[in-house]
Amino acid sequence: MINRFRELYGSADGVRVFRAPGRVNLIGEHTDYNLGFVMPVALDLATYIAVAPSPDGKLRIYSEHREEMREWDAARIGLERPFHEWSDYLVGVAQELIREGFFVAPANLLVRSTVPEGSGLSSSAALEVSAALAFLYGRELEPLTLARVCQRAERNFVGMPCGIMDQYISVFGRENSAVEIDCRSLEHRDVQLPAGITFLATNTMVKHELAGSAYRERVRECAAAVEGIKQQFPDVASLRDVSVAQFESAAHLLPDVVRRRARHVVTEDNRVERFVDASAHGDLALMGKLLVESHRSLQHDYEVSCEELDFLVDKALGIDGVMGARMTGGGFGGCTVTMLRPDAVSRFRQEIIGAYEWKYGLKPTVYSCNPSAGAGEVKNLETIPPQV
Ligand code: GLA
Repeated sequence: MINRFRELYGSADGVRVFRAPGRVNLIGEHTDYNLGFVMPVALDLATYIAVAPSPDGKLRIYSEHREEMREWDAARIGLERPFHEWSDYLVGVAQELIREGFFVAPANLLVRSTVPEGSGLSSSAALEVSAALAFLYGRELEPLTLARVCQRAERNFVGMPCGIMDQYISVFGRENSAVEIDCRSLEHRDVQLPAGITFLATNTMVKHELAGSAYRERVRECAAAVEGIKQQFPDVASLRDVSVAQFESAAHLLPDVVRRRARHVVTEDNRVERFVDASAHGDLALMGKLLVESHRSLQHDYEVSCEELDFLVDKALGIDGVMGARMTGGGFGGCTVTMLRPDAVSRFRQEIIGAYEWKYGLKPTVYSCNPSAGAGEVKNLETIPPQV
């Protein structure tokens, strides 16, 4: 990567490399912007940015994957408008860092990523967080502020009203454990997963057009649900505050669609808590069951799944050694996550790839979900993978 940097920019003096991981969410979907609970793991798939100061006042960013270079006057980066393309994630982060009081210096950047785009494994947060570290170039920023700066970049500049999960786990990921995040207090705890299971992500290789607009619509529907439930429970400020019992007693106040959206969020928060509990007690059967319930709720109540995701989940559940499966991430394509016995992995790969390819003519990629560390500087350059 350093050689590539030198080729591109003529020198690698002062170059440093920063890494930020993608994630797979085990359970707690579409709960983060309702201030509830999520339980992702950071992946070993990550975005790497090599960065060095530039002597000529420019900010240059090269994407290895797209083979595209972008260039700005560093002094004017705070005034740029969105371009509706990949560089928006970086410019958005630069602007939010400026808002935090940081100077964004002229620099040359090279971006490499092993997080597949559009896969629901959070390539955008990996790009945002690695960009923030690259712009900071070793200057200290409190980790929670780092995550929030990146979330704001996505909300304000890219225009996607996302929750905090993806940026948070990219910053706070932990090797060998999942992380349960309370999206209201913004505190987390590391959750040790029981022995005897492993998680795989399977990529549908599709991303339906609907994804962005439907996400916004769900955010609005959840706000409408809060308004409705408030008529009976005035203290409710977000769906996080609503227990399953309260939801049931106020459900009649909500129109059908809004009621189903709220039911998903309220029961999903509850499933996260039970999943963490089941995990602590090594109750693998219950963990698997909760994953499947989560998927059915996303499929029928929240309506963010799609035919390809449902196919992968249903197929997975028929394979010996699989304990649970669900869609992961925003939905409308991207990945499923499957919980299975380690000895079933190769059979699972073979069967799921065969079945999906036969049905859709696309070969799904299957990723192992080894919980990895959160973002930081890469000290050992030997660990940087090749561009995929
Ligand atoms: C996307 C968003 C997250 C979260 C998930 C759904 O990944 O970026 O904030 O809302 O969808 O759980």
